[in-house]
Amino acid sequence: MNDYKIIVTSAFGIESVVKRELYKLGYGDVPAVNGTFEFSGSALDVARCNMFLRSADRVMIKLAEFECKDFDTLFDNVNKIEWGDYLSIDGQFIVNGKCVDSTLFGVSACQSIIKKAIIVKLTKKYNVRTFSESAERYKINFAIINDVCSIYLDTSGDGLHKRGYRDIVGEASIKETLAAAIIQLSVYNQDKDFADLFCGSGTFPIEAALYATRRAPGMNRKFDYEFWQSFPNVRDKAQEEADEMVRRDIKPRIFGFDIDKRAIQQSIRHAEQAGVRDLIHFQCADQKDFSSRKAYGVICTNPPYGERLSNEKEVFELMKSLSVTYSNLQDWSLYLITSFQDLEKAFGRKADKNRKLFNGRIECRLYQFLGRKPNK
Ligand SMILES: C[S@@+](CC[C@H](N)C(=O)[O-])C[C@H]1O[C@@H](n2cnc3c(N)ncnc32)[C@H](O)[C@@H]1O
Repeated sequence: MNDYKIIVTSAFGIESVVKRELYKLGYGDVPAVNGTFEFSGSALDVARCNMFLRSADRVMIKLAEFECKDFDTLFDNVNKIEWGDYLSIDGQFIVNGKCVDSTLFGVSACQSIIKKAIIVKLTKKYNVRTFSESAERYKINFAIINDVCSIYLDTSGDGLHKRGYRDIVGEASIKETLAAAIIQLSVYNQDKDFADLFCGSGTFPIEAALYATRRAPGMNRKFDYEFWQSFPNVRDKAQEEADEMVRRDIKPRIFGFDIDKRAIQQSIRHAEQAGVRDLIHFQCADQKDFSSRKAYGVICTNPPYGERLSNEKEVFELMKSLSVTYSNLQDWSLYLITSFQDLEKAFGRKADKNRKLFNGRIECRLYQFLGRKPNK
């Protein structure tokens, strides 16, 4: 039964990857509108999207959409929602949201009105005056854009980038969802060698290993919907599908280099936690020592930027040295995300393609240097 309006959100610049992932999961050609995808689906579809989407940010359910220019309208429409169908009597509910180009512009005032409207509704339903908010979590999101308000229930809880394998987030770690998107934008497949020469906490090699062996990114974590008393028990079915999909026969060749010993130790721990330790060769080494006799490999990497890790001149020299390492790799393709503006100057050549992306709040470019394609 397609009971829900499912909303999948995507970070700026990687909508095309999320779109392709939704298509492959069987949800057709869903258009992206302002970084969100909307389609009808069942509770199991909610579970599948959370389980399988590698690059999306969150999976939510849309509960209402209405025109809204004043607080009374906001209260009345939120109060109309049958909150008792979703929220339990002891549930903890958190309201967050945004106001963009709208008459109502005070986010915290809207938050209070929405919370009040929910409490009034639940008071009637449960016939109590106070709510302990001590049990399972319900994250409620609102977006008022051009005077149209949408109310969502967040089924993911923690963002989908939290796969459950990374306990420590390094200062300069790339989000797992962004790394997965870059890998899917690249020409990588399980038959090719994969390397990250600046692997930090191991995100790129781990995501490549998960992708190559068809391990679902949500296999080792929980989602908020699993704890909701009123939501169908669909996790087990999605988990079953995910377990069946894993290709244990595929043994990809994946390398992670970093000059910092602690980074390599962290990468190893994260790879163990992700269940892919045996698929990745980690090495504490300078990028300039990387070489391979195998052709057509793929490097996805985010080297130090200059903004966060070191100064611009050092980064220029490092990128120059990386271009030499790369020039010795026959027919390899390189995908490098950086905010460093002189990357092409340091490389002494223009990238074949580049696209704007955000690594957290930092505006970056994904420079793509393409190797020759293998003969068919
Ligand atoms: C921006 S961080 C990479 C973060 C990583 N993508 C992650 O998700 O954790 C850059 C990394 O490059 C490493 N590094 C710096 N110079 C290096 C070099 N010459 N060779 C190899 N690694 C280097 C640093 O130790 C750091 O871990």
